[in-house]
This record gives sequence, structure tokens and C-alpha cells, in this order.
Amino acid sequence: TIAYLNGEYLPLEDARISPLDRGFLYGDGIYEVIPTYNGRFVGFNAHMARMRAGLDALQIRDGLTADVWKTILDRLISENKQQMPDANIGLYLHVSRGADIRRHHAFPEGIPPTVFAYAFPFPAPQPETRAEAVGLQVDLAEDLRWQRCNIKSTSLLGNIMHYQQGHQRGLQETLLYNRDGEITEASSSNVFVVKNKQIMTPPLDHQLLSGITRMLLIESLASQGVEVLQQPISREALLAADEVWLTSSSKEVAPVTEVGGKTIGKGDVGACWQMAIQAYHTNKFI
Ligand code: PDD
Repeated sequence: TIAYLNGEYLPLEDARISPLDRGFLYGDGIYEVIPTYNGRFVGFNAHMARMRAGLDALQIRDGLTADVWKTILDRLISENKQQMPDANIGLYLHVSRGADIRRHHAFPEGIPPTVFAYAFPFPAPQPETRAEAVGLQVDLAEDLRWQRCNIKSTSLLGNIMHYQQGHQRGLQETLLYNRDGEITEASSSNVFVVKNKQIMTPPLDHQLLSGITRMLLIESLASQGVEVLQQPISREALLAADEVWLTSSSKEVAPVTEVGGKTIGKGDVGACWQMAIQAYHTNKFI
């Protein structure tokens, strides 16, 4: 695998960063994961805008425009597609604050950020063969992460601890609710709920990531005249739903048939999901 690090293209195993990098010591950085299919990017501009917003929030000035990123990522695809025969390639982008010898919480001035990217095989969910087709079984837990989940921070400890809890119970995700009993998102995906054919998803705020797949799905459905209500969803409403879906770059739109040990709807993949995944596939490159 050929990776990109601070202006250079090099074998991934030769990529080196300082142990003083604040991404390593503090989780002081921003990342993105962008799916591509045959060299076409899913939601490129939206991923760029979200990364820019995160870097601005952290006052990290990397100076990389979306055009520069596109050049880097196109080159990573062309360098790696020989070893990745699958049409789908995932791109990981990472900007951390950089290395600083002083042990200080304040943002250091004038150090160059660490910019890293690499490509990896990213098999698209295959509805016929993958678990997504029969529906995911997920855990349900109180959201114990921080109050800035809209920032796609490389500090993923809260997320991975929630994920691991479900994983150790043999489940494929962990859905989260806040102190008011409202659903926020899952540890690495957004959530949609269907009741009486009405599709709903929690509104964007600091409690969840503004998922690109979430946005593309809402737009895909809108283009077919199907409205998604963005409104708070209680834990009770989630458990009483006819359908529950999770969205993320890797899952696309995945149906959920069990939440916290409770069967959702009839316990199978719902008709609305069939419609939604079609709409998503038709529109995801727009
Ligand atoms: N997951 N919420 C969280 C906490 C996430 O980490 C992710 C992304 C999402 C969905 O965002 P998007 O649709 O932009 O991928 C929501 C990683 C990237 C993944 O599972 O692929």
C-alpha cells in the first residue's frame, strides 16, 4: 500500500510520525473516511466541508484545499488499485496538530500539522450475502461520550468503548440515547426510525455526527418525494418502531432487526428499507 504523509507518497510500512505528535498523545486531530467506487467519490464535497468545520473548530490550519485533497486522493487510488481489485476503495484522511516537545494543553503555535492519508479495500455491503440483508442486532446504551460529537475527532475512545460493549455481546453496533432518553446515533453510524411509513431521524446538534450517508439518504429520498422528519426520537419510540436503519460510509443503509434484545417490527428487513436502499443507490453519486 502506498500512503501519503506530509507531502510524500511512500509505502505505508515506511510512514513514520513523531511520538510527540499531538494526535498520538492527545487525540488532537480530525479524520474522514470517504468511500469511492471505480474512482468515483461518494459525497466528496460534503466530506471536505465537514473536515474543514472540524479543523476550524480545533484551530488547526493545514492549508490543504479540497482541490489539493482531490489530487492526493486520486493519486492514492491510482497507486493502489492494482493491489485492490475490488471496485470499492476506502480513503482515510487524517490531520493532527503535529509534534510539540512541550507538554502543554494549550494549542502550540507555528508547528506544521501532520497530514496522513491511505487507501484500503472497502467492500460495499452486498445485500444478498452480508449480514445487513438479514438485519443487524445491536446493543442499546446511554451515550457516555462527550458533548461535541459533531466534531469528527480522532479521539474515538468513547465510541470504541460503546462499540466494544455491543461487540462482546455478539452484537454489531451500539445505539445510544442521551440523559433525556432521546436517541442520538450509534457508536459509528447514524440512525433512522420508521413508524407507520413515516421516516424519522434525530436532528443535527452537538450530540451526533453530521453523517454524510445520513445527508445523502435524506436527499435521495427527497428526490423521490419521500420526506424524512428530523426530530427527537425517544428510546420508547425506537423500540416500538416498525423499522430501524443505521447509516454510515461503510454500512450504507443497514436494516436493524433487534435493539437491546428487543425485536424491531416483525424482526425482518422492512419494505421501507428496500425502497430507501434503492433510492440511495440511485442517487449516492449526485
Ligand atoms: N463512521 N456517527 C459516528 C459516530 C461515526 O463515526 C460515523 C462514521 C457516522 C456516519 O458518518 P458517515 O455517514 O459520514 O460515514 C456517524 C465511520 C466512518 C464508518 O463506520 O465508516
